[in-house]
Amino acid sequence: MTQSEPKAYYLKTFGCQMNVYDSERMAEALARQGYRETTELDRADLVILNTCHIREKAAEKVYSDLGRIRDVKIARAKDGRETVVAVAGCVAQAEGEEITTRQPAVDLVIGPQSYHRLPELIARTTTARTHIVETEFPGEEKFARMKAPRRVSSPSAFLTVQEGCDKFCTFCVVPYTRGAEFSRPVAKIDAEARELVEAGAREIVLLGQNVNAYHGEDLRGRSASLADLIARLARIAGLERIRYMTSHPRDMSDDLIAAHADIPQLMPFLHLPVQSGSDRILAKMNRKHTAAEYIDLVARIRKARPDIALSSDFIVGFPGETDQDAEDTIDLIEAVGFAQAFSFKYSPRPGTPAAGHDGQVDDAVKSERLLRLQAVLEAQQLAFNAQSLGGVLPVLFERKGREPGEFVGRTPYLQLIRVAADGELVGTTADVVVNDARRVSLSGVIAEA
Ligand code: SAH
Ligand code: SF4
Ligand code: F3S
Repeated sequence: MTQSEPKAYYLKTFGCQMNVYDSERMAEALARQGYRETTELDRADLVILNTCHIREKAAEKVYSDLGRIRDVKIARAKDGRETVVAVAGCVAQAEGEEITTRQPAVDLVIGPQSYHRLPELIARTTTARTHIVETEFPGEEKFARMKAPRRVSSPSAFLTVQEGCDKFCTFCVVPYTRGAEFSRPVAKIDAEARELVEAGAREIVLLGQNVNAYHGEDLRGRSASLADLIARLARIAGLERIRYMTSHPRDMSDDLIAAHADIPQLMPFLHLPVQSGSDRILAKMNRKHTAAEYIDLVARIRKARPDIALSSDFIVGFPGETDQDAEDTIDLIEAVGFAQAFSFKYSPRPGTPAAGHDGQVDDAVKSERLLRLQAVLEAQQLAFNAQSLGGVLPVLFERKGREPGEFVGRTPYLQLIRVAADGELVGTTADVVVNDARRVSLSGVIAEA
């Protein structure tokens, strides 16, 4: 390799939007160090897997990928090329040292709170004779330490405002992988949002594992709520849309509900996971709310913003779940009416209380319940989209489509919509007449002025 050839990194992201955001920040930090990105593994001097530990499948996928990466590393070594292999994210945090035992090709294990140290640690791996494992939860704000300027790859940008979780739902690894709840100060978020808008963002999605528990320090040193933060960001010229996720029903405060009525930039979409419609199961999950409380909360939100689109997460086959509990969940879904949802089979996670509960449910039963639940949710999603047919909706165009002259954007309700049009629409908002509605996407044409 010649001296002038820049080093290349290959970065693969698993899991939630928080990981997507972290990957963007790592990419920015690496760009600053002179790295360029490659999508070809055998060209990568540095391979980073940003991993997810939420379900067994997600975590196991990492090890099959690492097997392939080891082969590439060996092949490259034969050509005299060195490869640094790093595992970041929630598997790194949860399994630490164990990763290097299972896959010795791994040079660096780095937890989600240590990314500001990435460049330094990569440099150290090339001189170290052993693996480096860095999974401390430092008391400082990692984002403040990541000084690289923000870039945007889409008009819709992610911005992490809160990290970690103190809720300890009995099925969930997040409180262990991301640590205690922590909110970034308003001033830092405001500055980053302005940087993103300056770089071309038109929409910002505020992220947190438990984003509506946000309680960052405001400019006067007092505690700001998520509603306060949104009101402040709504003053940024050029920022057309604000969204936030993921919210916990217990933290859906009155001021946040009111913000949905009062702040036009706040989009009428809310991802509010309920997990189950059975009070017995909700209690075992430690969700700290009942099905009736969730339904009442939805009614209050809809009173403030009648057209709001609701989304949720569901777990089927939690330990002890009976057919009746599963039916209770279907009843809740029918009572609420969701625009979209994610649903999962319960996956026992090491170290979480529910993994040791009695009454683990058979996989075949889980599969059956999941199918039934998804059929109901899919019908609701189609019905929600069908309501848009013939109407006009403002669409923010995020990217070009696969067909020539096709653009893909989102409606205020987060529906994906495809539009054929001349010129360049990416980054602009236009009114679109919806002329086709399917379950996962809409199609339309630009409305006549
Ligand atoms: N903070 C969010 C969810 C974070 S994890 C909340 O409180 O709702 C995203 C989703 O993964 C969860 O909502 C849950 O539905 C699912 N999930 C988490 N742990 C799981 C497990 N052990 N098995 C199956 N699904 C799980
Ligand atoms: Fe996990 Fe969400 Fe529960 Fe926190 S509130 S423990 S992130 S499911
Ligand atoms: Fe997965 Fe960690 Fe997100 S476990 S869902 S990547 S917080």
